[in-house]
Amino acid sequence: MRILRALMNNAAIGKQVDYYSRFSPSPLSMKQFLDFGSENACEKTSFVFLRQELPVRLANVMKEINLLPDNLLRTPSVRLVQSWYMQSFQDMLEFKDKDGDSEKVTYDFTDAVIKIRNRHNDVVPTMAQGVVEYKEAYGTDPITSQNMQYFLDRFYMSRISIRMLLNQHTLLFGGKVRVNPAHPKQIGSIDPQCCVTDVVRDAYENARNLCDRYYMNSPELILEEFNVKNVESGSAISVVYVPSHLYHMLFELFKNAMRATMELYGDALEYPPVQAQVALGHEDLTIKVSDRGGGVPLRKIDRLFTYTYSTAPRPLMDSARATPLAGFGYGLPISRLYARYFQGDLKLYSLEGFGTDAIIYIRALSTESIERLPVYNKSAWKHYKTMHEADDWCVPSKEPKDMTTFRSF
Ligand SMILES: Nc1ncnc2c1ncn2[C@@H]1O[C@H](COP(=O)(O)OP(=O)(O)O)[C@@H](O)[C@H]1O
Ligand SMILES: [Mg+2]
Repeated sequence: MRILRALMNNAAIGKQVDYYSRFSPSPLSMKQFLDFGSENACEKTSFVFLRQELPVRLANVMKEINLLPDNLLRTPSVRLVQSWYMQSFQDMLEFKDKDGDSEKVTYDFTDAVIKIRNRHNDVVPTMAQGVVEYKEAYGTDPITSQNMQYFLDRFYMSRISIRMLLNQHTLLFGGKVRVNPAHPKQIGSIDPQCCVTDVVRDAYENARNLCDRYYMNSPELILEEFNVKNVESGSAISVVYVPSHLYHMLFELFKNAMRATMELYGDALEYPPVQAQVALGHEDLTIKVSDRGGGVPLRKIDRLFTYTYSTAPRPLMDSARATPLAGFGYGLPISRLYARYFQGDLKLYSLEGFGTDAIIYIRALSTESIERLPVYNKSAWKHYKTMHEADDWCVPSKEPKDMTTFRSF
């Protein structure tokens, strides 16, 4: 087998990548994820699905990486990321013709899935490093920045989705028992009754610990719930969701809200609280995190979602140190991807001079929570290759026109 693998040269792998990239990824709904984990679903079903779907998702994103500027592709970080994808793609192909009824095969498959997951642990910081190196060496123009943003959104979204598949498989079939002792009610990483306020409180507490460490103080939390469906009983709002994704978004929003508040109020003894409101409607589950940290002008709001944009000093990449409160500039863009991954969204509304509302939208119905996946096709390709034309809105001139020279007829 090893010899065979050695013989499979790059060209042959390239052909396989081409082949698999022609398939579109198959988005799964929350319900399908749950069915995979239900009593009658078996490891074989998951195996047969993943051995096709994982190479498809990997190949789609590998083709897109190839469209990046040559100088970016040549950075050691991007090469490293590419080599991980290549290796994982090959690892999956090994199972192409294997017998799913053999226990040894499914066991080896789960093992391979775990290896892939670990191999890709550092993809986000490594890719980020590549982008930083490239920007430092070659500078940036607006078109390259736009392409980079487009690419990173799709690349990281693809990664979120691949990890979701890998995690579900290992959590359900990797151990001796299917039930996770820490979270017995969860189906893999999904909680069919994820209590939103519990996650809000948890994220707030952890952000607050960080905030206390940096500023010696932190704003209080005011938490409110509004449930249109269940006004009478007042039961806690729950949703079928991945609690770790929800936690990730809320933790980032709380860190941002706290930092803005603390920076604005400096040495004051009291700080205006951070407010969180959770509302459940018929379509949306909405979570608003509001601060009174002074806000951001409208002109800058879009910029906050660009990768590496941060107004905090860049923290050192040293895992031995305490987690920084801010500074990588990945908090908002990645959180927005988590929200969008299951057809939700994350938006920021600010009142400059007062404060900011950050809003997470999640689909209230699990039937509507379907993976949102990038696909490599002609339209994606065009994004990188076509020349961007002039704006179709007038650009106001810097100098005011001398209106006295205009004649009316
Ligand atoms: N609630 C907020 N109030 C004011 N500014 C904010 C708020 N949230 C985010 N920002 C601005 O957006 C930037 C990017 O945020 P983020 O993506 O979380 O990265 P980081 O927190 O690492 O800087 C922050 O550096 C800050 O300038
Ligand atoms: Mg942040």
